[in-house]
Amino acid sequence: MADFDPVTKAVVPAAGLGTRFLPATKATPKEMLPIVDKPAIQYVVEEAASAGLLDVLMVTGKNKRSIEDHFDLAFELEAALEAKGDDERLSQVREPASLATLHYVRQGEPRGLGHAVLCAKQHVGGHPFACLLGDDLIDHRDELLKRMIEVRNTYGGSVVALMEVPREQVSLYGVATIAPTSEEDVVRVTDLVEKPPADEAPSNWAIIGRYVIDPAVFEVLENTPPGRGGEIQLTDALRTLAGRSSEDGGPVHGVLFRGRRYDTGDKLEYLRTVVRFAADRPDLAPEFVPWLREFLDEIG
Ligand code: UTP
Repeated sequence: MADFDPVTKAVVPAAGLGTRFLPATKATPKEMLPIVDKPAIQYVVEEAASAGLLDVLMVTGKNKRSIEDHFDLAFELEAALEAKGDDERLSQVREPASLATLHYVRQGEPRGLGHAVLCAKQHVGGHPFACLLGDDLIDHRDELLKRMIEVRNTYGGSVVALMEVPREQVSLYGVATIAPTSEEDVVRVTDLVEKPPADEAPSNWAIIGRYVIDPAVFEVLENTPPGRGGEIQLTDALRTLAGRSSEDGGPVHGVLFRGRRYDTGDKLEYLRTVVRFAADRPDLAPEFVPWLREFLDEIG
């Protein structure tokens, strides 16, 4: 195996406008919406940490304060819980700050995911990094990111996560043209297109919110003009890298993901996610699930 530079840092873009979730996201980042009792972005940081990435850079926007506060110590709250002897809640309050070393960079204007990633250039430097979208959850039982890091360590270049979606949904995603490798869950990505109309999509394999990216992406992003929606698209930069050799920042591989993924930036998916997570929680499920059954009977 070639000796590739290890992946140690994670970048979490959380500066989007979240227009699909207005008005809740008028003053609160969508990444802070709770999935039962934890903000979505905490699950994402937990995932990065459990893949061994303990240096996490958040790309934040105008409502960054609640994110910073969530991952910081909360002196008054901790003192109050300590005085009450409420150790369980105290440890829940302290947990986010203990997961990883958090850094922040601000994306002045939401000019697209590619631009958000470009804001990480100085922090990441010349090393490969993982990028986890702050509103996209991967079930902790499905170890996608670790597998992607393994694939990067084998092939170099960049790695995207691909999930098969119904044809009528391809226009919501970046879609890949793929070629098989000798590994069943790994493909070579030969081309990418952002949000194609259903009849023009090269496959049903959509890019979801996990990436391992070669630092060559920064130079490409600097030269990537705004694409679909007037935004600088990460997909467009990865497309350029997909056409390059390993000496030049390429290639791009895909890990075929068949596990559970939740897009919490979409209202309907958000509702499904909250219900699923609640039904999995030993402290809530015994009361919640029977209630849910009754409720479903009631509404027919
Ligand atoms: P989305 O494609 O979901 O866009 O971003 P959005 O603008 O946040 O949300 P909608 O579509 O208006 O509802 C995917 C991820 O990239 C981040 C978002 O915060 C989200 O985690 N992002 C997007 C940025 O950090 N900056 C941007 O300029 C755009």
